[in-house]
Amino acid sequence: MNKFFFNTILLKGSNVSNHIRKNLTLQINELKKTYNITPKLSAILVGDNPASQLYIKSKEKAFKKMDCISETHNLPINTTESNLIELIKGLNNDNSVHGILVQLPLPKSLDSKKILHSISPEKDVDGFHPMNIGYLYQGEPKYVPCTPGGIIEILDFYDIPTERCHAVIVGRSNIVGKPMYGLLAQNLRKGNATVTMCHTGTKDLSYFTKQADLLIIAAGIPEFIKGDMISEGTHIIDVGINRVNDASEKKGYKIVGDVDFFDCFDKSASITPVPGGVGPMTITMLLSNTVTSAKNSI
Ligand code: GUN
Repeated sequence: MNKFFFNTILLKGSNVSNHIRKNLTLQINELKKTYNITPKLSAILVGDNPASQLYIKSKEKAFKKMDCISETHNLPINTTESNLIELIKGLNNDNSVHGILVQLPLPKSLDSKKILHSISPEKDVDGFHPMNIGYLYQGEPKYVPCTPGGIIEILDFYDIPTERCHAVIVGRSNIVGKPMYGLLAQNLRKGNATVTMCHTGTKDLSYFTKQADLLIIAAGIPEFIKGDMISEGTHIIDVGINRVNDASEKKGYKIVGDVDFFDCFDKSASITPVPGGVGPMTITMLLSNTVTSAKNSI
């Protein structure tokens, strides 16, 4: 059989993000001009996890750039569950706040589920509340978790087919894998796919990844997916952001995805780079959810 050679499309999140932000700017201006409302996010950071601090800073920067408000509540690592829940209750009742976000992971001493469940579903711009996950699984999403929502936008922008396709997801996290399954399996925009979810209990992962028309990897393992695990013509979405040591880099490390990019590139029909693929979408979708919440508050 002839070998296929694809003109692999690089799925750049920054292009999609710019497109969405242009549209959001119009909505933000309208909210300000007509209703005197400025979308506002209240983020809560417990402890001093460097990755979380960086993430929160990026959110603040993005909100400022879009002329929206982002405030951060920095709490010490020994914050009690009741203190945190009291703070969230206050934000739930504060009409100037449209979105509440608790940065994960929380310190092990705190019950993450209990804390996330105390956020009002109307202000749950992360889309992690069971009520919002329930709406999503019933085919009527309200607030979609930002990373899966961003992936749907990438698929839409680059016109990657999903209808009647076999989508294979690797990873079953509440943040990516599970909501991604819910979105692709529904008959929604960029859905109507047959979806398989693989995880640590999957026997013979390659058996499934080789069947994928669309492969979405959120496993958290650097360069886990190799070229011999996929078929020619696969569309690949790499959610991984892993820091690996690299003496040839000035910083002593580099960022790689969960996909061995160079091993898979020639075989894939399209692929997200890391960095620059899914990453730029997450904060844009958080902005989008916060703008939606601000509009819902009118
Ligand atoms: N930690 C890693 N990703 C996320 C996210 O999307 N939202 C929150 N709140 N914490 C995270």
